[in-house]
Amino acid sequence: MASSAPQHSPAPYGGASPVRKVTPRRLQEMREAGEKIVMLTAYDAVFAGLAGQAGVDVVLVGDSLGMVCQGGDSTVPVTMDDMVYHTQGVARGLAAADAASLLLSDLPFGSYHGGQDEAMRNAVRLMQAGAHMVKLEGGGWTAPLVRFLVERGVPVCAHLGLTPQTVHALSGYRVQGRDDAGAALLERHARELADAGATLLVLEMVPAALSSRITQALPACHTIGIGAGRGTAGQVLVMHDMLGASLGKTPRFVKNFLAGSGGVREAFAAYAQAVRQGSFPDDALHAW
Ligand code: KIV
Repeated sequence: MASSAPQHSPAPYGGASPVRKVTPRRLQEMREAGEKIVMLTAYDAVFAGLAGQAGVDVVLVGDSLGMVCQGGDSTVPVTMDDMVYHTQGVARGLAAADAASLLLSDLPFGSYHGGQDEAMRNAVRLMQAGAHMVKLEGGGWTAPLVRFLVERGVPVCAHLGLTPQTVHALSGYRVQGRDDAGAALLERHARELADAGATLLVLEMVPAALSSRITQALPACHTIGIGAGRGTAGQVLVMHDMLGASLGKTPRFVKNFLAGSGGVREAFAAYAQAVRQGSFPDDALHAW
């Protein structure tokens, strides 16, 4: 798509960075041009910088750090202080690499459940740590929070399907939206979150046909799939999983991109290329 957007990002004091940053506007342009959005988690400066150098569009400081960095069995114990600490490191890494990537950071469990003021206060902490957008999990009940944050200048990514912060209520890490009623509820929540102004929407472990339907219904809210088939506007993986760095079983929708590549940056670049070309995920990796 031809864009009238400036080709250089504004830099402080009127200078121009040669790097065109990934912004909500750029994500919309990518969507309209049919370019897939590449998202990957990172939790520290070096891996974030390598992801930026490899051309990852969105670097997510996920609360999955509670599992891959802290060794927990869920994301529930992750605190705001944890998120701020890791977001600061990732922001420094992206700056050092002069990366174009948008920095997305998770609001952890309990940091927005108390209402709009709490959500805003904690979103501000993440933005002041370097985040460009914040992510929160949950269905229709989060739509007023999304609207409140967006109206106050905080870009938001929503998250539906398997929402790991509510793993105990969901009775485990399981596929969501399999039956007609569950699918209809997910579609309704997706529309509510899009109407509230969410820029991105992570769809985790939902049937491919359902995530494709949601994607097509939402032209201005861009779906990012994880275990949700290839019909989404983009893909996300947990960095450790796609590097094959795991102490247990990796989910079956994950591919090891480090195997056969020349190093970590090359593995990130191979992932980005596979998402953009549409060769990841393939149907064999995703069968629900
Ligand atoms: O915390 C995280 O890493 C996430 C991704 C799995 C989307 O939310």
